[in-house]
Amino acid sequence: MNENEGARRDETIEPAPRAENEGVRLQKVLAEAGIGSRRHCEELIGEGRVKVNGKEVFRFGERVDPRRDVIHVDGRRVETRAEMRYYMVNKPRGVVSTMSDERGRKSLADYVEVPERLFHVGRLDTDTEGLILLTNDGELSHRLTHPSWGVEKTYLAEIHGPIPRDLGKRLRAGVRLEDGLVKADKFRIFDQVGKRILVEITLHEGRKHIVRRMLKEAGFPVQQLARIQFGPIKLGMLKPGNMRALTVREVGELYKAVDL
Ligand code: URA
Repeated sequence: MNENEGARRDETIEPAPRAENEGVRLQKVLAEAGIGSRRHCEELIGEGRVKVNGKEVFRFGERVDPRRDVIHVDGRRVETRAEMRYYMVNKPRGVVSTMSDERGRKSLADYVEVPERLFHVGRLDTDTEGLILLTNDGELSHRLTHPSWGVEKTYLAEIHGPIPRDLGKRLRAGVRLEDGLVKADKFRIFDQVGKRILVEITLHEGRKHIVRRMLKEAGFPVQQLARIQFGPIKLGMLKPGNMRALTVREVGELYKAVDL
């Protein structure tokens, strides 16, 4: 590479300076992204809690390009592209984790009540219920499911007891499966009624049937399974079959979890 090539590359890194009245005022963009009233957004700017492309902005009149500029409030990215959509659904048991099914089985599309085309972020077994994220944000979805980011997922699994005291220790140390070792990041007993034991298990793995295979190999086949958390997003009280939009804060937390 000669010196001129180097100079040309450097030039492309800096965004072109914006003309005085080009772009949209920052407080308007923040308000439209759901952060709060314009007044509130002005206060956030004044308090130095807003960054545009990594730099703190104090000027109310600052103009930004909502499609290209990266805006953070309190360290969480704010999605400012108007067409972006982020939802969660509580997939009921017996529903396939796809947006349609050739064999006519119930699919996620039966529960999605928005006109936009959405993708599901990863899958759950048909027999598993619980949290599935839906979005049209390809980059976020890619990162959330890619092993390099190792996003944690938490499940509640019902198994038959009694279980040995050291089960958690064994699962954290790792269980050998035919496609390699799998380790739990966290494990705890969540509830127990007689011999039915509900355990909470957190993994950063995305391999097929991984929780079922892991617990079976440890000697405790899963009777029922539900995903209750995906990265920072908790299912909470959302009932099976229901969906809701993520809040601006939740979207910011998802971005943070995968360095966006
Ligand atoms: N592990 C499983 O066994 N099933 C799922 O659906 C998800 C994780």
